[in-house]
Amino acid sequence: MVGKKNINADYEGKRNTIVSSGQERVTAMKMLEQYSLNLYFVALFSVTIFLYKWLTTRKTAFKNLPPSPPKLPIIGNLHQIGPDLHISLRSLAQNYGPLMLLNFGSVPVLVVSSADAAREIIKTHDLVFSDRPITQITNRIFYRSRDVAFSRYSEYWRQVKSTCVTQLLSRKRVHSFHNVREEEIALLIQNITCSQSKIVNLSNLFSELTSNVVCRAALGKKYASDKGNSYSYLLWEVTDLLSYFSSIGNYIPSLFWVDWLKGLKWKVERVANEVDAFLERVVEDHQSSIASDNSYTNKDFVSILLEIQTQKTDTGFSMDKDCIKAVILDIFFAGIETSSTNLEWTIAALIKNPDIMFKLKNEVHCYFLEKQGRM
Ligand code: HEM
Repeated sequence: MVGKKNINADYEGKRNTIVSSGQERVTAMKMLEQYSLNLYFVALFSVTIFLYKWLTTRKTAFKNLPPSPPKLPIIGNLHQIGPDLHISLRSLAQNYGPLMLLNFGSVPVLVVSSADAAREIIKTHDLVFSDRPITQITNRIFYRSRDVAFSRYSEYWRQVKSTCVTQLLSRKRVHSFHNVREEEIALLIQNITCSQSKIVNLSNLFSELTSNVVCRAALGKKYASDKGNSYSYLLWEVTDLLSYFSSIGNYIPSLFWVDWLKGLKWKVERVANEVDAFLERVVEDHQSSIASDNSYTNKDFVSILLEIQTQKTDTGFSMDKDCIKAVILDIFFAGIETSSTNLEWTIAALIKNPDIMFKLKNEVHCYFLEKQGRM
């Protein structure tokens, strides 16, 4: 009985195995069908997306877009841009004309390279093109773009810009800093005169000159930093972060991880914190000088902006501390390099044109002789 029971059990087991392997086959068939159905839908979906993309790209091809050099998938025209952006753009513009459309990765870039086309953009279509591109970097460093340069065209922008133009950069205000300019230029000449070496690096001296002038006009004095010359180094670091290709993720979003690997986010945080600590110190210094001295008359940009902060306006515009710090940062970036580059180009042009250099020297001599009453 025991053996029969075992045989029966064995038979039942085998039958179950056969039945269950049959069921598995049916399930497997069903899964296979489902799988092919899924594959079919994936293929259909991809073809639809492809057709959609193709049709929309074809549609843009028929739009009246400016000429573009042929571009590669993903990187667009980035491979045609060398280390000197202006030189690459110039040679591309020679082939594609004064209005040319490039793609920096996924970002369309309109390149304008003639005075007429620039006039159209800056004057006729000013509003369309007036905003600068805002990135995570500019947002972080310029206090969520509360400055003039990166703020979107809006009532806020109008108020801040008008404050800069009428209160900080008016003719009267610029004139009020003439002693600052004279002192700093005298220092530059002294540096050149005392220079033992026959070769003088004028680029460095001009940068130092304009940096000192802007610093004294904006902050009231030359701020020596805690770590040697790290204040100018900080400005240089911000300039580096603001350069076109500091972040590849801005142009090719799928390559955001390259920025991450380069430690860009960490660097932006560090630089933004250091810039803020510096400006915070400047504002606090001014606030305590104003609080401790009623007759405080130093009219540098920070004290002017702090004074405006206390005034009520009809427009409801109020200038908070972040706005003051952002505007001061703008003044540094708008004022230092522009002026020193201008001086550098002027000297280079004079060296290339000795006749004009000679004429200018005579004019300067005559001016000083006349001033000293010797003519
Ligand atoms: C030779 C020297 C300079 C040149 C060639 C120059 C050029 C310019 C240009 C072309 C703009 C208009 C930018 C735009 O609308 O997109 C501008 C704006 C501005 N500049 Fe100057 N600048 C010079 C010196 C200075 C100095 C010394 C300061 C301040 C101390 C300054 C402060 C500003 C400010 C605050 C703006 C407004 C920024 C904006 O609207 O985006 N600039 N400058």
